[in-house]
Amino acid sequence: MGDFLFQSIIVEMNNCQGKKCQKEQYDKQREQVAHYYGTVLSSNRDLKSSACCQAQEPSIHKAICSRLPDEILERFYGCGSPIPPALTNAIVLDLGCGTGRDVYVCSALVGVGGRVIGLDMLDSSLQVARKYQTTLSKQFFPDLESYSNVEFLCGYMEQLEEAGVERESCDLVISNCVINLVPNKEQVFRQVYYTLKVGGELYFSDIYTDRRMSEVAKTDPLLICECLGGALYLQDFKSIVESIGFLDPRMVTCKKVEHSLSNELESKIKNVTYYSCTFRMFRLNDGLLEHNREDYGEEAVYLGTITECPDVFELDMDYRFPKAVSVPVDHNTANILRYSRYGSHFCVSEKMEHRGPFIQKKGNCCYNLVDWHK
Ligand SMILES: C[S@@+](CC[C@H](N)C(=O)[O-])C[C@H]1O[C@@H](n2cnc3c(N)ncnc32)[C@H](O)[C@@H]1O
Repeated sequence: MGDFLFQSIIVEMNNCQGKKCQKEQYDKQREQVAHYYGTVLSSNRDLKSSACCQAQEPSIHKAICSRLPDEILERFYGCGSPIPPALTNAIVLDLGCGTGRDVYVCSALVGVGGRVIGLDMLDSSLQVARKYQTTLSKQFFPDLESYSNVEFLCGYMEQLEEAGVERESCDLVISNCVINLVPNKEQVFRQVYYTLKVGGELYFSDIYTDRRMSEVAKTDPLLICECLGGALYLQDFKSIVESIGFLDPRMVTCKKVEHSLSNELESKIKNVTYYSCTFRMFRLNDGLLEHNREDYGEEAVYLGTITECPDVFELDMDYRFPKAVSVPVDHNTANILRYSRYGSHFCVSEKMEHRGPFIQKKGNCCYNLVDWHK
């Protein structure tokens, strides 16, 4: 079934908010988005809301960005910092990479043993990204002649194989404020699932809402292009990704979007609150993750071996692992820490007898759907 869906050509799709979306409408939205990012915007100063460009990021990323050219930085339209630690030697795919800012940050972090693929549907953005490939590769890897660990592909993230991305080829898929722009988000998450190796991670930032939007808001071209109209309601997002196999997705950060829209657009969105969220989720072998968090008496100790996190590793808003401290974990978390690329950085105790549901210590979610994952 998954195989069939991965190969299928999109003719008519669900728009993931419960309504049929014809190919014509789909193509129209794609054209609007392409026109907006290819022609209307020439830098992030042209944006009409602050949904994009709210990222707070680690100092190591800032240091790498300080070496990037202005042309790349000015056309950065991300809404978060979707670059996790422990990337040495990883194969990374950036969906909707634009002019390549996050691709180049990852390039420096994965090193010579890794590889980064940036994919975008807009050739004009990729031309900017490619323009600096030789210079930046020389800066990051001065000892290697004519070397680059970066590749840019032009294509759609709903059709990754057609774009040249092989199945089960990536350790990590990232994306920064892009998935909201696609009507069929389910198709994107499904493609990502089969592109990840088993044990691989999807780590991405995007805009979400606290409620389902009206048709008027969902179909407004400016709201769509500004990454608001296509934002998913958080609970719908969870249902979609869990139906594909990304069970128990983890919220890493969540920040309310402070937008300053025109009165006309405000009247369309009414009481909707938008959040810029970063999520992580894992593709593990069948049976290793389940919908609920269960208590099998397991504990995990972080060894302090991830370069960027010498003292503490934060998995998500619920789990913080100070170095050398034994932390009680639910069975999903135990398996994530055992079977993902974080495995070598943790010591996880054996599974004991079942003790019932795992009682989670409250995290620090910033909105009133604190228990959205339950
Ligand atoms: C808000 S911008 C973010 C760009 C980049 N991630 C960044 O942080 O600067 C959205 C990007 O997604 C790309 N995009 C939108 N829909 C796409 C699709 N279906 N497939 C591939 N790229 C897409 C656009 O061309 C644009 O570059």
